[in-house]
Amino acid sequence: MAQAEIGLIGLGVMGSNLALNIAEKGNTIAVFNRTTERTDEFFQEAGDLQDRVIPCKTIEEFVAAIKPPRPIIIMIKAGDAVDQQMETLKPYLQAHDIMIDAGNANFRDTMRRFEALKDSGLTFIGMGVSGGEEGARHGPSIMVGGTEESWKRVEKVLTSIAARYEGDPCVAWLGENGAGHFVKTIHNGIEYADMQMIAEIYGILRDGLKMQASEIADVFGGWNKGRLNSFLIEISEIVLRAKDDIGGGPLVDVILDKAGQKGTGKWSVIEAQNMGVPATGIEAAVAARSLSSMKAEREAAETTLGLPDVPALAVSDKAAFIADLENALLAAKIGAYAQGFAVLSAASKEFSWNLPMPTIARIWRAGCIIRSEFLDEITQAFTETPDAANLIVTPAFAKTVKETDGALRRVVSAAVLAGLPVPALASALGYFDSYRRGRGTANMIQAQRDYFGAHGYDRTDGADSHHGPWGSGLVSERS
Ligand code: 6PG
Repeated sequence: MAQAEIGLIGLGVMGSNLALNIAEKGNTIAVFNRTTERTDEFFQEAGDLQDRVIPCKTIEEFVAAIKPPRPIIIMIKAGDAVDQQMETLKPYLQAHDIMIDAGNANFRDTMRRFEALKDSGLTFIGMGVSGGEEGARHGPSIMVGGTEESWKRVEKVLTSIAARYEGDPCVAWLGENGAGHFVKTIHNGIEYADMQMIAEIYGILRDGLKMQASEIADVFGGWNKGRLNSFLIEISEIVLRAKDDIGGGPLVDVILDKAGQKGTGKWSVIEAQNMGVPATGIEAAVAARSLSSMKAEREAAETTLGLPDVPALAVSDKAAFIADLENALLAAKIGAYAQGFAVLSAASKEFSWNLPMPTIARIWRAGCIIRSEFLDEITQAFTETPDAANLIVTPAFAKTVKETDGALRRVVSAAVLAGLPVPALASALGYFDSYRRGRGTANMIQAQRDYFGAHGYDRTDGADSHHGPWGSGLVSERS
């Protein structure tokens, strides 16, 4: 067999599906796994694609099987294991060979790895891959960060395996070093916000309107035909319809309400905070997952405090309220995406990446977890208004926000009055209300800071760096 176009290390769920996708699209691939049994098993699974798969038992054999300069995808657990794998590989590689980390790496690790290889002649690509198992097998969204030269080497094979939105491949080179992994991290941050907002709406339907899982599935199914059409709404309907094969009821009703998280949401929040960009929807979603995991503490608090002593959600026109929920979710989603893109825009400057916003929206339209028609609208908005300060002030989105924020306000108010927690939905409303108000309340904060710490303040008439005067009022001893 001719030398392989590309190599892949790590035949776990994501790695093996990606390898089969690569082979299926006509590329020859060399594969290696830490345990040879898994490599043999994978080769059997490859079936008809075996003639494009070169299974290797040793690293020497694996490296020799790939055409130089060798692109090698490393698809293993993010963290130290990647560094170890790279160290093992390095002695066998030659100048211009490219190690590609396709895991959910922290972009700061990617920057470090990129830098460490700079003078070695070897190259590194940090590649975000989204779409889960199914996406890896049949077409993920791929976010590439690295040198343009290394991108050119892998462009053809990555384009062949990427998802397509109306024929347009969902893969792009987004910039140097950590750009790809940063964009993937923010993709996941948005994913967290999207999922949390859907869960809050589900909570209003379940606990406020007392609807059964199958009825809620009908609602989501309807919404998936409208402006909320997306993978996450689609799977929400599917999971709500699934039956528990033990008890027979809806499976979702017997799933423990403790959400896991592997780090990308938290990294999104940390990086947003580092750059001073508000990402309140993602923050609310990460905090909600943390709170969800404190199950025993929440149960104890319910015993001590009881549920809020408030009237149950009273809805006179159920259909109109459900229409409000749909619009509220759309408005809140716009807020979360606007924040995610604002973080990307700040990072682009901070790390000199020149991130292409319309391209990022474009490659998220298919293949990834947040894929939706809505991302096509974002692509258009950023293409038409590339210098917009924020997605919500682009003409198309400003119009939608104005059309839907009333529904968000009604839904958040109703939920709050009924004691139903809606932290992410409320965060979006707070964001809109703060962002659109030219005269805010931080003058009060500045006055307090200047009073107790002589931090100075700027005046509304343009004069800057004032201090006091604060009069001679004494602070009481008790305060
Ligand atoms: C994707 C997903 C994928 C994975 C997340 C889940 O884009 O394909 O985001 O990367 O499902 O890592 O993250 P949590 O375990 O933190 O929810």
